[in-house]
Amino acid sequence: MKETVVSGIRPTGKLHLGNYFGAFKNFLKLQEQFECYFFIADYHSLTTHPNPADLKGSVKRVLAEYIALGLDPEKCTVYLQSDVPETAELYLFLNMNAYMGELERVTSFKEKARTQPNNINAGLLTYPVLMAADILLHRGIKVPVGKDQEQHLEMTRTFANRFNRLYNIDYFPEPQAFTFDTQLVKVPGLTGGGKMSKSAGESDSIYLDEPAASLNKKIMRAVSDSGPAEAGAPKSQAVQNLFDLMGLVCNQNTISFFDTEHKNGSIRYGDLKKQLAADMETFVAPLRDNIEAMLANDKKLTEIAQFGAEKARKNAQKTLSEVREIIGFSKFYL
Ligand code: ADP
Ligand code: TRP
Repeated sequence: MKETVVSGIRPTGKLHLGNYFGAFKNFLKLQEQFECYFFIADYHSLTTHPNPADLKGSVKRVLAEYIALGLDPEKCTVYLQSDVPETAELYLFLNMNAYMGELERVTSFKEKARTQPNNINAGLLTYPVLMAADILLHRGIKVPVGKDQEQHLEMTRTFANRFNRLYNIDYFPEPQAFTFDTQLVKVPGLTGGGKMSKSAGESDSIYLDEPAASLNKKIMRAVSDSGPAEAGAPKSQAVQNLFDLMGLVCNQNTISFFDTEHKNGSIRYGDLKKQLAADMETFVAPLRDNIEAMLANDKKLTEIAQFGAEKARKNAQKTLSEVREIIGFSKFYL
């Protein structure tokens, strides 16, 4: 039997290079070889209380991007999380064995609690439980995600094992974060800080449908430094970020050239950025066209979502009927 793959992306904005290289690139390869479920994590996005029209628009956009970037509904199951309410039922069951202490210690929770002190809701606290439900619903083994999701995966394993131990049954497998690269990827942002993220602001991210002019402008304005202090000086974080971005889209000769220039202390960041912008535009241009075309095709998107929802629900219903049986809910009246 083929191994099962599960992953999702929250509909909280346009997809960017981080989403593509951290997660999506792996989705494309995985759909060729495994039993894959790729969904849009719309329940998850409710922690920030989007208004209904925005939510609808964001979900449509991510669905269009999934297809435009190459997910094939005949090869994998593409669905909206909220079309599979079994997710919520499994979340409820798993919540019974998720403890306050461990949930409060999750890095992403602490970070959110710090940045949105007026909205520390229970959904935020139990975010890793909902994510575990997404994965265990299909008894997923491989979970293609970026480095920032490692801790959530660890919690999924904890919840799966705890369930198995409680009911003394080897039911849920132990899912692992997955990438075809040698290590989990972290794509840096353009503003010199940490990872490229939808929440870090417009100028930090390059979107997969970024128009040519703003793509160029963003890269030319990306943070660098005032040049290596002397030949052989190590790269600053901001400059390393630019090299990391080159690693995604430039060829090896280009990277080696600028690397040598940096070592020699003679690098011109303007030239590096110009080259990076040109190579990035080559990469983004076809994606941009595909996304635009797909966004205009409501009929096709609706059909894809309905087809995916049916396939995903069928599998989810099987899991839930087994889980109910294990817990002791079913047939108690017989
Ligand atoms: P964001 O942080 O921009 O809101 P999401 O949390 O929705 O993005 O992430 C969706 C997927 O993309 C996850 O698998 C995540 O690990 C991956 N991802 C997001 N940003 C990056 C990044 N900068 N580098 C690598 N992977 C990333
Ligand atoms: N938490 C993930 C993120 O922020 C999105 C997500 C929700 C997910 N459920 C998932 C990823 C299940 C993989 C598997 O990026």
